Amino acid sequence: MYSDIDILDVRTWGPGAYERFRWLRRNDPVHWDAKNAIWAVSRHADVVHASKNHEIFCCGEGTRPNMPTKLSILDMDEPRHGQLRNLINRGFKPRRVAEITDRFRAFTIATLDALAPEGRCDFVRDIAVPMPIEVIAELIGIPKTDRGKLHHWSDTMIASDGKYDDLATMEKAANAFAEYVAYIEDTIEARRCDPRDDLVSVLVHARDNGLLGEADVRDAAKLPSAEAATMAKDELTMFLVTLLVAGNETTRNALTGGMSQLIENPGEKQKLIDDPTLIPRAVEEIVRHVSPVQNFARTATRDTELGGRAIAKGQKILLMYPSANRDEDVFEDPETFKVDRDPNPHVGFGIGNHFCLGANLARMEIRVMLEEILKRMPDIAYADGPPTIQPSLLVRSFTSMPVTFTPAT
Ligand code: HEM
Repeated sequence: MYSDIDILDVRTWGPGAYERFRWLRRNDPVHWDAKNAIWAVSRHADVVHASKNHEIFCCGEGTRPNMPTKLSILDMDEPRHGQLRNLINRGFKPRRVAEITDRFRAFTIATLDALAPEGRCDFVRDIAVPMPIEVIAELIGIPKTDRGKLHHWSDTMIASDGKYDDLATMEKAANAFAEYVAYIEDTIEARRCDPRDDLVSVLVHARDNGLLGEADVRDAAKLPSAEAATMAKDELTMFLVTLLVAGNETTRNALTGGMSQLIENPGEKQKLIDDPTLIPRAVEEIVRHVSPVQNFARTATRDTELGGRAIAKGQKILLMYPSANRDEDVFEDPETFKVDRDPNPHVGFGIGNHFCLGANLARMEIRVMLEEILKRMPDIAYADGPPTIQPSLLVRSFTSMPVTFTPAT
């Protein structure tokens, strides 16, 4: 039925996607899409196998299936990739994350308190867009006074997604990108002269020293050179660009998609109101059910086999996260949203050596959002029906979700 599916057509990932993916899992779980010259990998076991065997299925040939670009840490292989991750992890220390959590909660409460008397808002615009940006700004160490700019750049870049024919929009996006890069480079310079307790300072310091601290090197003997263990200036800038993209739209859509599931399943929402200790499990279920990131690609480094199919060296495969996360071999009743689902071995954050670096921050954001909203707006409901979703190959993108709730007095 779907044997001629075009896996890189955004419509494949739009309405009806889950039915198509179920067909693939049952009938052709590692499917050769001849038009796009890529294998569509739809089962959980095969996505896990390929992700965990990074020496066979590499990232270094690019992880976006339709773009040759290799811009970010996602497109790196070992050992460079691990070196970079070790450096970056220094900026994600528990103390920093605790500090970010406190500030994030204060920001969330202020945002919700400002909306509460209205009794109505657009969940995407008023809640899900500003929240993740705030966290990235905290992480990078962008002062409060500059956050408006960050919102503007981020919005403008995101507005261009999928509008490659609209030259005016693309030009605005290119300008926003250039302004963000210039701002980041200024920030890098400023932290060099005046280091602080933030991610940029940690990374600038690591780069300038040309060495990694001993504790950060997994296997120093395997490093090609000391220089290889430091970040190039471009890499540092590009990483900070990646962070804005990777941490923003993903979390925004997890927040919106998660809230839409709670609105559509009031019994599940009530369970969380009655027993907030279920919230951490609900967070995992949101990431599974929404699967904000749709897919990443890998390239075979040698002839191999996956799910019984022969994969030739150099061929690409597409890891289909939303499909893996609805695999009936792993998840009972996979279409159903259950806040207390346990166990929940979803791959919404990926798996293996590229496992999402921001997973704990993203979990924290979703958790705090649920805790504070369920306290303040327990009767939150759609104002005009279900949210609108914009087709995208990379991220499930909610564009608008008007909601109502009893206004606070
Ligand atoms: C719900 C929100 C999020 C989802 C669903 C998500 C999902 C993912 C996925 C699927 C990957 C690829 C994993 C793989 O290839 O195995 C990834 C990687 C990554 N994510 Fe996230 N992410 C989220 C939030 C964030 C946040 C908040 C940040 C940063 C603050 C972030 C930063 C990154 C980075 C830097 C990588 C690359 C890691 C590497 O290549 O080693 N993500 N994420």
